[in-house]
Amino acid sequence: MNQLYVFKRLLQYVSKYKSKLLLIAVLGLIGVVFEVAKPLPIKFVIDNVLSGHPLPHFLSNLFSDTSFIENKKNLLYASVGIMLFIALFSFVFSLVIFNLTVGMAQRLVFDLMIDFFAKLQRLSLSFYSKNKVGDLLQRMSGDVFVVYFLVAQIILPALTSLVCLGGMFYIMSRIDLLLAVVAFSVVPVLAIVLGFFAKPMNDTTTVQYKTQGSFSAFLQQSLSSMKIIQAFGRESFMHQKLKKHAEEFGNAFIVANRVSMTYNQMSVLITGIASATLVTLGALRGLNGTLSVGDLFIFLGYLTALFGPVNSLTTAIGAAIAIGARGKRVFDILDSEEVVKENPHAIDIKYPKGEIEFRNVTFGYGNALQLPVLKNISFKVLPGQVVALVGATGAGKTSIISLLSRFYDPWKGSILFDGVDIADIKLHSLRENVSLVLQEPFIFPMTIVENIAFGNPEASFEDIVEAAKGAQAHDFISKLPNGYETLISEQGSSLSGGEKQRIAIARAFLKKAPVLILDEPTSAVDSLTESKIFEALSHFSKGKTVFLISHRLSTIKHADQIITIKEGQVVERGTHQSLLDENKVYAGLYKYQHIT
Ligand code: UTP
Ligand code: MG
Repeated sequence: MNQLYVFKRLLQYVSKYKSKLLLIAVLGLIGVVFEVAKPLPIKFVIDNVLSGHPLPHFLSNLFSDTSFIENKKNLLYASVGIMLFIALFSFVFSLVIFNLTVGMAQRLVFDLMIDFFAKLQRLSLSFYSKNKVGDLLQRMSGDVFVVYFLVAQIILPALTSLVCLGGMFYIMSRIDLLLAVVAFSVVPVLAIVLGFFAKPMNDTTTVQYKTQGSFSAFLQQSLSSMKIIQAFGRESFMHQKLKKHAEEFGNAFIVANRVSMTYNQMSVLITGIASATLVTLGALRGLNGTLSVGDLFIFLGYLTALFGPVNSLTTAIGAAIAIGARGKRVFDILDSEEVVKENPHAIDIKYPKGEIEFRNVTFGYGNALQLPVLKNISFKVLPGQVVALVGATGAGKTSIISLLSRFYDPWKGSILFDGVDIADIKLHSLRENVSLVLQEPFIFPMTIVENIAFGNPEASFEDIVEAAKGAQAHDFISKLPNGYETLISEQGSSLSGGEKQRIAIARAFLKKAPVLILDEPTSAVDSLTESKIFEALSHFSKGKTVFLISHRLSTIKHADQIITIKEGQVVERGTHQSLLDENKVYAGLYKYQHIT
């Protein structure tokens, strides 16, 4: 991805606000006229008021009564009046332009942020196992501002500076062409310097934003694992690691800024040398009478004014290079391939029944060259059946249900929902029909009601309470200071492990989906509460297909089908009794649990 591509993409965003940008540009150009006209009244004061030269014809012709302009004081007041008028208008214009630009640029950042977030929501879990949350945060909250800089630091300043320089060149060349050419000879010299600096500036800013991303990622990870760090007494270890990240970021920051600062200061030096040359040349011309004092004054006035647009041009180019590096960080994500893609002809599940079939599914988390985690898995579950997946830790149970929700796609084979390959079903429609309780329950930093109703926002309060009762959560919720309206802190840290699990179960109970997946839903709950939850499960799951993963085999005894997974393969299938009779893996596990 090169810089040009980044600009093309950014300009697509800007093009949405074409008319507004045009308005700002037009206002900016009017502002330029004032800017260019600023030194002119002083020329009249010096040449026509103080030195007594007559006014140029085009001005004196404007007055029918010449007695007015012959009065020097009148001429002085008129010149000063024009100066004040220009100052006032420049002030008003700058304010209006500033407000319009900031307003538009802010909307642009907002658009890019929204697209970024929408993309993040579409990316599959394999993306999140490769990218760090802190780095993504940095990209989404910091790097998206490139589009703001593009408008506020590049497009508009470059445009007005160019026009401003054009206007100045015109007036200067009217006064003295040679001097004007000397003044503007800085431009090609600056271009050469820029050519020299462009690559190092790009490289160093790229490193700067990359290290900034890793720094944020480390910070985010440390903040969210503070409990473990403190419990293991590893504060100084983490401190050292943080220092390393901070140093890397700090060094990259210094190097990048040193390079761009050198570039900026070299431009200032070059314009400085040019102005010294011009002062000498101009003064010599003044001495031999080819240039009036007023003209010399204008020349020198423009010379200092020349710094403004030339510098904002060089800054704009420097900013463009930084934007290339930062914008790449945004578009790398926006353009990243959606591994779990939605088929353009994908369909909605209209009347879901909940029949699930795995056909020869092989899957692994890495690429196909690595070893698969699931090998040739096949089974079929009829609507309304309860199926239990059992097996040792790491056998592949969670992987199977992750495939069913299409968090990942299988390498080989297919998964069917009501006879339709889930790859041909709209992702939203598939997930709407699957209710999930994850092995690690996730609780949002919202109220309990919002957490339970997360999958069914239209649910009535009565339904929410009923689901909470089924999940054996109602009693503890009622004892909380604000009951169902209690706000839960980040990562549910104000709740016990079992309480979090019960809220996650209530959430799944409330979601009206024909397929219910429970991945060790009660691992943190005592046996009595667990048996109550399973009693409620039979009520809430009436007619639903239920996938149940549990290491406590007593909870799955009544399943219609038990599938034993060993090292990613199905090794047995049957009912509790038939598997006991077979006396193989399941029977072994069950006997072990009931003897010990
Ligand atoms: P599972 O997570 O499917 O195992 O991982 P499981 O049967 O549910 O295990 P328990 O009972 O919850 O502990 C199966 C294999 O896939 C790997 C794991 O390391 C394990 O070997 N895996 C899992 C990955 O490589 N990447 C992941 O993101 C998850
Ligand atoms: Mg698991």
